[in-house]
Amino acid sequence: MAVTTAMFLEKKKKGEKITILTAYDYLTAKIVDSAGVDAILVGDSLGMVVLGYPSTIPVTMEEMIHHTKAVVRGRKNAMVIFDMPFLSYQTGIRDAILNAGRALKETRCDAVKIEGGVEQKETIRALVDSGIPVMGHIGLQPQSVNVYGGYKLRGKGEEREKIIEDAKAVEEAGAFAVVLEKIPQSLAKEITESLSIPTIGIGAGKYCDGQVLVFHDMVGLFEEFKPKFVKRYAELGKLAREAVKEYIKEVKSGKFPDEEHSY
Ligand code: KIV
Repeated sequence: MAVTTAMFLEKKKKGEKITILTAYDYLTAKIVDSAGVDAILVGDSLGMVVLGYPSTIPVTMEEMIHHTKAVVRGRKNAMVIFDMPFLSYQTGIRDAILNAGRALKETRCDAVKIEGGVEQKETIRALVDSGIPVMGHIGLQPQSVNVYGGYKLRGKGEEREKIIEDAKAVEEAGAFAVVLEKIPQSLAKEITESLSIPTIGIGAGKYCDGQVLVFHDMVGLFEEFKPKFVKRYAELGKLAREAVKEYIKEVKSGKFPDEEHSY
């Protein structure tokens, strides 16, 4: 059954955890969808994980649309959420509606995600009023890495109150869920208990209503660095490298192709 935003709210009420993974292509979308995730996030992490950029800042609408189309072709039931790239919504409400609307029309995704709390409240409201479901994203916001000078834990000390305000703003604006990235789990717990919309944690501990991880991180394909909050459920990078080494060895030695793999 196709997952809807209403189901997200229903799951929170019932205390059922929500599962989200990223995907950027048809094949990965098929794998995570058939395994049963509730939603697939076509994250702008695309830029770092698949396109080799140093951050998410260079990612364009065209790149996001290209990859989201492939993901939508690969999913059956999971909700597909399109991550709005840097400067596709920060430049004004009209731009935000036109770009998010374009994402929905051209890719047939189900919802968009935008980073920002209080400062994006009016934009989230305008998108929702235009018929575009929005997932918020507060705490660590990778598109603001240049302002905050890195990917440090957010919401400690005085910043705690600001993040609580952000969460309230996102809910009041009409978002159907909110990502909490890299904040203390005690803060994530407080926010989760105070909101009626589900919280989706990444580096925010176990009290969130759901979790999201980058697929390439959790299967060990992205090996350049591993944040503390990433659990590797497989080591596909290592496996693939071993397979490639074996292939090279067999081709060089004449072992492959053998009779079984020849006509
Ligand atoms: O781009 C992304 O993958 C994300 C997740 C880390 C939430 O925004």
